[in-house]
Amino acid sequence: MNIIAINGSPRGANGNTFRMLDAIREGAQKVGAEMEIVHLSEIDMRMCIGCFRCWDKEDSREIKCVLKDDVEGVYRKMLKADLWIFGTPVYYDNVTALMKIFQERMVMMHNAELRYAQDKYLHDIAFDIPPIVSLASCDLPGNYNFHVISEYMKKVAMNLKTELVGEIYRCEARLLTWPVESMQFIAKAQRDLWIKAGVELAQLRRLSEPLRKSLNRLLIPAECYIEGASQLAEDTKRKAGQNKADGYGGY
Ligand SMILES: Cc1cc2nc3c(=O)[nH]c(=O)nc-3n(C[C@H](O)[C@H](O)[C@H](O)COP(=O)(O)O)c2cc1C
Repeated sequence: MNIIAINGSPRGANGNTFRMLDAIREGAQKVGAEMEIVHLSEIDMRMCIGCFRCWDKEDSREIKCVLKDDVEGVYRKMLKADLWIFGTPVYYDNVTALMKIFQERMVMMHNAELRYAQDKYLHDIAFDIPPIVSLASCDLPGNYNFHVISEYMKKVAMNLKTELVGEIYRCEARLLTWPVESMQFIAKAQRDLWIKAGVELAQLRRLSEPLRKSLNRLLIPAECYIEGASQLAEDTKRKAGQNKADGYGGY
């Protein structure tokens, strides 16, 4: 079993999205699977220029792009994997620009033929794409913050002629690094759940419904979270008044 995760956070290995992916990797490795995490913030990646030269091919299973960067190489690795995880922070209610740029380039896996599926016309894809998982973190409380990403990723799965087998969403993500000791057990309990998710994904190539529900629950009631966040905002304002340029902490 070989899993590949794409991390669309500009913070790469320092972020909340990575914390989730890292725990899933730990679970997957426990049961003998391999999992690679690709940080889009660390690869050379350009934006699609819309030339469609990637469809100018005789063999529909050929992958080629006029842009000579790292993206083609990542796709080649993905096509050898048994499961893909797309991980992203919520940025302005959607996937990050990094993730979107990466996913736009997936057009090179398709070809010019059209197909009809579930009442929709789609561009054909000659590859057997493995099941995919959508994973995201955000700051605000409530899973409605993942609505756009969830709908988008369902369509991405349809485009790729595959199945979305899991959705792992973590709102209130700043609690994972909240600078209060008593909160650390919450972060630990959540990490244990992601480890379980890694085990399930590696063994079953899908996420069971009970685990999905546990994974995606609020960590603390929204009212408590908002109060803590307001205190943090006050602290930041005070620091700003003191001319300390250490930014908005705790996200
Ligand atoms: C530019 C920007 C936009 C954001 N937009 C949202 C948003 O719309 N909703 C939300 O709940 N959090 C939003 N956040 C917070 C991030 O989603 C959250 O901190 C996330 O866990 C960061 O993940 P990372 O550490 O992996 O980058 C935003 C953060 C940034 C920097």
